[in-house]
Amino acid sequence: MTAPVVIAVDGPAAAGKGTLARRLAAELGLPYLDTGLLYRAVARRVLLSGGLPTNPQAAEAAAAALTPEDLQRPDLRGPDMDQGASQVAAQPPVRALLLDFQRNFAARNGAVMDGRDIGTVVCPDARVKLFVTASAAARAERRWLERQAKGEPIPLEEVAAEMAVRDARDAARDVAPMRPAEDALVLDTTGLDADAAYEAALQLIRARLDA
Ligand code: CDP
Ligand code: CDP
Repeated sequence: MTAPVVIAVDGPAAAGKGTLARRLAAELGLPYLDTGLLYRAVARRVLLSGGLPTNPQAAEAAAAALTPEDLQRPDLRGPDMDQGASQVAAQPPVRALLLDFQRNFAARNGAVMDGRDIGTVVCPDARVKLFVTASAAARAERRWLERQAKGEPIPLEEVAAEMAVRDARDAARDVAPMRPAEDALVLDTTGLDADAAYEAALQLIRARLDA
């Protein structure tokens, strides 16, 4: 039996990972998992219980109590969850508790999964690994536009600063830091819209699969 196809899509905030991974999954007929939701759901549990995402006991208890329904909550996005997710994600016991779920998801029927450590830790044998990135300015503008569209007036500089803090924390943590796997295909989406990024990704993937 051949191993199910797994495509790992890693990279920093607002690189376009989710948009790309969702489309690849739909086109290739593979299940999709947004692994950032797991960390967001842990942060949500901690915050709802009145705890701090930086508190190891609170974060571990929340990760251990996670349910599938937690991933469906409408309030997993937003600045508090962004930072909270990245704070719980820096804690080794939290990451360990979420690992089996992610690996089992990939092993069942294959998957396209987006996150920070899919190609390096969760699925190091993934058939294709993409590391999607873009300039900090382009990424901040994308998130700022999303906030504008939601009717949340906020200075672009503030969005950029929040994002820089989170990306630095994600890249500097000891366990499963955000970084391209050695065999990752790097896709810089600066100046590319979502369609152009998708086409560029398909070309990279085809070349890798043909090789
Ligand atoms: O998942 P990640 O945080 O990497 O990014 P996303 O949520 O998929 O995309 C962030 C925003 O950038 C969305 O509003 C997309 O429409 C937009 N965008 C994109 O996804 N891809 C591009 N090449 C350009 C913009
Ligand atoms: O959509 P965006 O790129 O802004 O964030 P996300 O993918 O939803 O991830 C939220 C946070 O969860 C990240 O800043 C990371 O700290 C953490 N995360 C992680 O550590 N490992 C993953 N595989 C996915 C997310």
